[in-house]
Amino acid sequence: MRFELPALPYDRHSLEPHLSAAMVDAHYSGYHLACIQRLNTRLECLNPTADSLEELLDSTDDEIAYLAAEVWNHAFYWHCLTPWGNTTPAAELKADIDGAFGSLAGFHQAFKTSALAHIGSGWIWLIRNHDGQLTIITTNDGQAPLAQGIKPLIGIDLWEHAWYLDFQNNRDAYLDAISTLINWDFVTLNNG
Ligand SMILES: [Fe+2]
Repeated sequence: MRFELPALPYDRHSLEPHLSAAMVDAHYSGYHLACIQRLNTRLECLNPTADSLEELLDSTDDEIAYLAAEVWNHAFYWHCLTPWGNTTPAAELKADIDGAFGSLAGFHQAFKTSALAHIGSGWIWLIRNHDGQLTIITTNDGQAPLAQGIKPLIGIDLWEHAWYLDFQNNRDAYLDAISTLINWDFVTLNNG
């Protein structure tokens, strides 16, 4: 099958003033689409019967595995954000956040600190580790926790293409903007 660019869950203008429509468009219609097109081209030669991204994450072809992860990561990222605000983690998840980070504000601070400490391109995630504890991790480039069998709760893009157009070298400001856009309804769903 050929993979298609999934619809954005909101209008590309609707994350303004936090993330500009121009930056969302460049990220979504530019980078995300380009990853899908390149993946489709590679699959035509090597695996034309593939029908899910998940099955490609451990492909023996490094390019296919990398692109499948990036395509999956980006679809997940768009859903981690919401223009509508006023979402909060459900009670059980909130209790675990309080237990792990002290408070929701403590989580946001820990998330930002870890993101700022990450060197180079990559992603930051909130996951449950193998003991079920909420944990913040970062991955390099297009690596995805899902490839290690870990379904993330939150995934935020740390590549420069995710923020540089609006914020130049101020990744700190991008992370502040992101903290106001987290779709806690989606995160709660991911918590199972
Ligand atoms: Fe990206």
